[in-house]
Amino acid sequence: MMKKIKLKMLGDERGSMVVLESNTSVPFEIKRVYYIFDTKNNVSRGFHAHKELRQLAVCVSGSCRLLLDDGKSKKNIILNNPSEGLLIGNLIWREMHDFSSDCVLMVLANEYYDELDYIRDYEKFKEIINNK
Ligand code: TYD
Repeated sequence: MMKKIKLKMLGDERGSMVVLESNTSVPFEIKRVYYIFDTKNNVSRGFHAHKELRQLAVCVSGSCRLLLDDGKSKKNIILNNPSEGLLIGNLIWREMHDFSSDCVLMVLANEYYDELDYIRDYEKFKEIINNK
């Protein structure tokens, strides 16, 4: 499952604000937040899927491109809007490309970091999808 969601903007004459809350604007319990920034030129990241983890990615500044692959089809999604979130379910191969120098990509996750939840081999990912 992958889906872009609109995040509610709480703006007034002073500027903009977005609030993210467990189980309301974010459809899971948030256990972990990390952000990727200061990405060097031509660097791509990711190249993995998760067995169980669910995430919401928000590009709070700048832009980047996510390549999402459910094992059947691939989608390129540009994130360049802090009032937009990208939900990424489990068993989605993801790659992150084309980071602008000012890109801050924030990721909310429903579980703590667990290396055992990672699938880092694309062939293994395809195998798991095909055996589902
Ligand atoms: P990595 O998995 O390479 O990041 P990405 O897939 O976004 O390119 O993570 C970089 C390092 O940080 C790696 O050694 C694992 C570690 N890490 C944590 O300790 N906790 C975390 O929540 C994350 C996302 C990574």
